[in-house]
Amino acid sequence: MALKSLDDLLSEGVSGRYVLVRSDLNVPLDGATITDDGRVRAALPTIERLADAGAKVVVTAHLGRPKGTPDEKYSLRPVAARLGELLGSEVPLAGDVVGEQAKAVTGSLADGQVALLENVRFDPRETSKDEGERAALARDLAALVPGAAFVSDGFGVVHRKQASVYDVARVLPAYAGGLVLAELEVLAKLTGDPQRPYAVVLGGSKVSDKLAVIEALLPKVDRLLVGGGMCFTFLAAQGHGVGSSLLETDMVDTCKRLLAEAGGKLLLPVDVVAADSFAADAATRTVAATEIEDGWMGLDIGPESTAAFAAAIGNAETIFWNGPMGVFEMAPFAEGTRGVAQAIADSGAFSVVGGGDSAAAVRLLGLPEDGFSHISTGGGASLEYLEGKELPGVAVLSEGA
Ligand code: 3PG
Ligand code: MG
Repeated sequence: MALKSLDDLLSEGVSGRYVLVRSDLNVPLDGATITDDGRVRAALPTIERLADAGAKVVVTAHLGRPKGTPDEKYSLRPVAARLGELLGSEVPLAGDVVGEQAKAVTGSLADGQVALLENVRFDPRETSKDEGERAALARDLAALVPGAAFVSDGFGVVHRKQASVYDVARVLPAYAGGLVLAELEVLAKLTGDPQRPYAVVLGGSKVSDKLAVIEALLPKVDRLLVGGGMCFTFLAAQGHGVGSSLLETDMVDTCKRLLAEAGGKLLLPVDVVAADSFAADAATRTVAATEIEDGWMGLDIGPESTAAFAAAIGNAETIFWNGPMGVFEMAPFAEGTRGVAQAIADSGAFSVVGGGDSAAAVRLLGLPEDGFSHISTGGGASLEYLEGKELPGVAVLSEGA
């Protein structure tokens, strides 16, 4: 069965009807302050279109990884406030997921109004491995919104087989939201027949997280640039000492094999910014990547590496970037990420930024968002798509409910 879209739903008419929307509102917080509201802004168009069409819009979402029980630290309260500001009308937050408060808030919703349910991961059934438990939560969600349609718009979470992403789409008539469709369309360009040269820039802390995507992409790309914490395991695989930099010893052999398979395609940093501690006020020195001394840790790629990466990026016609080049949250270690991001923005290539962290880096470092063809809201989801894995939250939309 073909995937039904938000447009299909809108042409059926939604005035006066409940629509349950799954959004990804998992934003970075500093206490109760949202430090990057990109995901809230990205969720807005679908919610707005439904509200404008007169639907009673009930949004369900998660924040962080609470342990299946209410935890104030992971409350969606700041998100409800921000969503209300952006929509220009207050968004009531139900204080629970499917309990009395959720019933009260959804029951009193007016046509065209938007409400948010509390963090769906406060309910242990959301992430349960037991299909029956997840289905029970999905039914409880559906019971809040009699006669509803379900719009799946949380692209960042479609790789999760969870009750509010997957199971609910089997209980209610399900439609793909505008954000999910836009993200899929962009990623399809990367896996189809990308314009060459095709360069992929990977960073972030762990090789183990990126192993599958490296394996999947190596045969397809012309250049794979590796920075971030994960580059040190590759440097160790080349036989270099990495001091106290991040190192996954159990991945060294795998990195050796990848380096051999990659031939000249895989580019590693030639210099790094090393620090004597993991702190913004640490003593730092820029050293050759092959000469990191004991007691020093690499926390960013160095200027020569940034220039070499920028040159490879400048040659590319298609670029995918996931993961920062260093600890960009601390000013002394932000230049690698800034330089690479700027090179991508300047390249004129078709460029996709994937991942919560890299997307946040673009905005926190003040780079022009319109310098990139697409800034994805999905980290894990976009990587799994590029790995060629099926995304459960997307696959289920074609099943038909
Ligand atoms: C994300 O931030 O990657 C998404 O919101 C999914 O969250 P999760 O990794 O905790 O499932
Ligand atoms: Mg994640």
